[in-house]
Amino acid sequence: MKKFYTNQSQINKQLNEQLNEQQLEEGKPIKEEKLIKDEHTREIFEQVFDKATLNTVYEIARKKYFEEIEFVISTGKEGNVFRCKSGNGHYAMKIYKIETSNFKHMMEYIEGDRRFKSVRKDKQEIVKAWTKKEYKNLEELTKIKVKAPLPITFSRNCLLMEFIGENGNAAPRAKEKPFTDMNKAYETICEYLAKMINAKLIHSDLSEYNILNNNEELVIIDVGQMVTTEHPKAKEFYVRDIRNLSKWFSKNGVKTNYEKMYEHVKEKTKKPKKEKK
Ligand SMILES: Nc1ncnc2c1ncn2[C@@H]1O[C@H](COP(=O)(O)OP(=O)(O)OP(=O)(O)O)[C@@H](O)[C@H]1O
Ligand SMILES: [Mg+2]
Repeated sequence: MKKFYTNQSQINKQLNEQLNEQQLEEGKPIKEEKLIKDEHTREIFEQVFDKATLNTVYEIARKKYFEEIEFVISTGKEGNVFRCKSGNGHYAMKIYKIETSNFKHMMEYIEGDRRFKSVRKDKQEIVKAWTKKEYKNLEELTKIKVKAPLPITFSRNCLLMEFIGENGNAAPRAKEKPFTDMNKAYETICEYLAKMINAKLIHSDLSEYNILNNNEELVIIDVGQMVTTEHPKAKEFYVRDIRNLSKWFSKNGVKTNYEKMYEHVKEKTKKPKKEKK
């Protein structure tokens, strides 16, 4: 059973434990050729990212969070996810592309979020805000015990987080590997949605593409666009999430549809009444 972290001090404690375990040599700067040893990975990195991104990655590595970018797990339009080596374990690093990110799309989710009121509308600032937003959102989920990657650190367009997978293999998406017990997974996601609603959070891109099946444990990822319920389009985003999820669960044998799922989550948002003495 994996541990959940309920507050920032617990996250920090866990982080310190991990850092101590790593025993990276203090004071020794990591050489450029050592940071990305694999030729192919270095090529991808250099093709996709600018010098400032490489410097940001160095900055994080110098702080002893990790020692090597090993290989790319996923390449997307807006960014790539890499596996990083850290002591005996791994982290995942998501790096957003500054040039090709969809700013209009990003602004739609940033503008209505009071946590990011004063963001300037230039490419770099938007991507930086987006990276920070994803980090903060991972923190929020960790606090309310919704299983998502534990956030480790972020800087500029780079986000370092817990690697989700086993024996170094990244967990498949639920789309590729549906759960063995789909009814159980359905209950879990409904519970997570209820916890998120109670914490005023809407994922806004929740589907089988952003759920990992980590050896039957359901893990929610890709939370950059998660907004608070005060966002003007929060309801629309929530309806879309439930629509996508209910369709997929129904296709995979769960007796549900949009209305049923909506009601089921609503039921779960009701806090249990205190018993009268
Ligand atoms: N913490 C993690 N541990 C392991 N794998 C991860 C992690 N985060 C992301 N991935 C992998 O990287 C992929 C892309 O991540 P994510 O969904 O966060 O980005 P995205 O912006 O949607 O990218 P894309 O445009 O490729 O869909 C995921 O589908 C998953 O396979
Ligand atoms: Mg995704």
